[in-house]
Amino acid sequence: MQPIPAVRGTHDLLPDVSGAWAWLHAAHARVAEAHGYRLIDTPILEHTELFERAVGAGTDVVDKEMFTFVDRGGRSVTLRPEGTAGAVRAVLEHSLTQAHRPIRVHYAGPMFRYDRPQKGRQRQFSQVGVECMGERSPYLDAEVVEMAWRFVEALGITGVSLQLNSLGDAADRARYRGALVEHFTPMRDRLCADCRRRLELNPLRLLDCKRDAELMAEAPLIADSLSAESTRYVDTVIAALGATAIPVTRNPRLVRGLDYYAHTAFEIWHVSLEGAQNALGGGGRYDGLAAVLGYPETPGVGYAFGVERLLLVATSLGTIPAVAPVCHAVVCSVAEAQGQAAAAAARLLREAGLLIVTDAGDRRLPRKIAAADRLGAAAVVILGEDEAAQGAATVRDLRRRTEVRTPVDGLVPVVAAVLAANLSEP
Ligand code: HAM
Repeated sequence: MQPIPAVRGTHDLLPDVSGAWAWLHAAHARVAEAHGYRLIDTPILEHTELFERAVGAGTDVVDKEMFTFVDRGGRSVTLRPEGTAGAVRAVLEHSLTQAHRPIRVHYAGPMFRYDRPQKGRQRQFSQVGVECMGERSPYLDAEVVEMAWRFVEALGITGVSLQLNSLGDAADRARYRGALVEHFTPMRDRLCADCRRRLELNPLRLLDCKRDAELMAEAPLIADSLSAESTRYVDTVIAALGATAIPVTRNPRLVRGLDYYAHTAFEIWHVSLEGAQNALGGGGRYDGLAAVLGYPETPGVGYAFGVERLLLVATSLGTIPAVAPVCHAVVCSVAEAQGQAAAAAARLLREAGLLIVTDAGDRRLPRKIAAADRLGAAAVVILGEDEAAQGAATVRDLRRRTEVRTPVDGLVPVVAAVLAANLSEP
């Protein structure tokens, strides 16, 4: 029978990488919590309509990339392609903005997009992100952008740039859509089939097209459609960021791939990531989103980062700290008869706060010692026939290759001494 592999575009998080994974999540939680964000966890499965309305028909995410299926009750449901729509739904469904305005939440979890898998792009990937809802102020936008930057800094990642643009308010975008239609209609025949559809359905999404990138470089800029008030808004965001020494690149062509943005839109790019995969993360303001989902008008701003992309870059830069030991000592029973005694010795050592792995397998002792070495253990505690008969254990220092025999009830200081000696030597 053929072995069953993982689904294409999905990845296993293996133990060798899980320390780095935990480090990254802890760093994000620290940055978020330092700014008053609290953890939220929403379902992976949502009504398809949530994303159709939030992310928008005509976006690649909704038109081409959603994992959508009909459940056994005949409802169309979708594996979330992003976290903002679900976070907004959860906050408003539970009326959280009544007690906290703004409410600040952070999240981490898997997202699903049926995209062509390649380096830095999976079908199941993970995001960490924040959403701040209930208030509209350019200083909140600046705070969210700064948090995103501080998070990347906390990971030790250098070589990043902050790209920022304004997508204005609904009236600005309506004006801009008109300008795009006016510009592209005469050259309709030169556009790809997708773009011809976008021209009718959702002209702003023309700018996401990779195939027609050359034509898009000539497109009108949204900055020319912004009202004086919208221009003032983005200028205030940039001025607030000026005080942080974060270098801001104003990118008039940045439109992001999701429909819900208004005013601030930003991305953090890394030099080593290429083409469509160059963004480590992105976000912006989404003041119209709540109403589109049928909830009372509620402004919001947030960001999300791709965990795998961040780890790719952090790994290549060597910024991931060495992980703490997972095992101080391995307790080996030489034969099944010593299993009980070995379990008791292990329990004693764990009660003293040590990380202890047991090895009750039927391999020969040299193999068990080699396996303990691979786990990074400093000591092996051996319970053979002789030892068990005497209520004793042999403690082997794996580094110095020395051994001492000790009564089991005196094990803790002996193992602790081996660990201390190991720690004091480089
Ligand atoms: P997004 O730009 O679609 O924004 O995704 C954010 C990040 O998720 C990307 O910059 C990238 O690092 C990662 N990502 C996206 N797709 C993939 C993929 N197929 N494989 C690997 N990584 C991927 C959002 O999702 C918005 N919800 C962000 C936001 C929050 N805006 C406001 N609040």
